[in-house]
Amino acid sequence: MPVLEIEDLSVSYGAVHALTDVSFTAAEGEVTAVLGANGAGKTTLLRAITGLVRPRKGTVRYDGEQLDKMSVEKIVRHGVAHVPEGRSVIEEMTVDENLRLGALWRFSRRQRGPVIEEIYGLFPPLAERRRQHANTLSGGERQMLAIGRALVSRPKVLLLDEPSLGLAPIVTARLMAVLRDLTQASNLIVVLVEQNARSSLSIAQKAVVINLGRVVVCDDAAKLAGDTELRHHYLGY
Ligand SMILES: Nc1ncnc2c1ncn2[C@@H]1O[C@H](COP(=O)(O)OP(=O)(O)OP(=O)(O)O)[C@@H](O)[C@H]1O
Ligand SMILES: [Mg+2]
Repeated sequence: MPVLEIEDLSVSYGAVHALTDVSFTAAEGEVTAVLGANGAGKTTLLRAITGLVRPRKGTVRYDGEQLDKMSVEKIVRHGVAHVPEGRSVIEEMTVDENLRLGALWRFSRRQRGPVIEEIYGLFPPLAERRRQHANTLSGGERQMLAIGRALVSRPKVLLLDEPSLGLAPIVTARLMAVLRDLTQASNLIVVLVEQNARSSLSIAQKAVVINLGRVVVCDDAAKLAGDTELRHHYLGY
């Protein structure tokens, strides 16, 4: 079964060691939650997987292929999609145009329609707003659109950076439920970076806690959620 393997990954920004010897694997059909405080190195980890920053040391492999020497474009073509923090959508375009743009490089004009309808099936509020400009969407709808844009390329690995940031708890709960179902139904490898440990652990199978750039916990999500001491110590709840 194809897995995403991170091995001994170290990333520095000049003198700042953002990640040191990070290793873990993420499996198909599973959500791997990456947790940790501000500045722990979570965003850097996702950026290193997509090739936006180059590791000083270590490897990233997907399905046996080494990604860390490839160009960003090639990594995307290998099926890795990255939804950065901040619900990035193109504001001046409609919901439908945003999704079409996401599918542009991957599918012919004729194929794009059905692929986009699938996204509307996943996120019904987007279907109702398909002709609205993205700048008229609520925070939750924007996040759905940002994720939808990543999904229209039919990725195998989906990297999400703090998708619940700034969303109301009920909106977060719905989004997490969609992610959980989608991961299983599409056999995706999902790496979910969140400060909201409680909600991400509720849908994750595996959990990786990063502290000051190092992995301090790598275990079953349920085990971490059930360990009061670890939770208090690293996750603050
Ligand atoms: N472009 C950069 N140049 C220099 N230092 C950086 C850069 N980006 C991040 N850092 C530093 O690297 C460390 C890890 O940052 P990173 O953004 O990966 O953390 P994070 O876990 O995503 O934090 P947050 O929860 O605030 O999003 C921090 O000390 C940060 O200040
Ligand atoms: Mg971050």
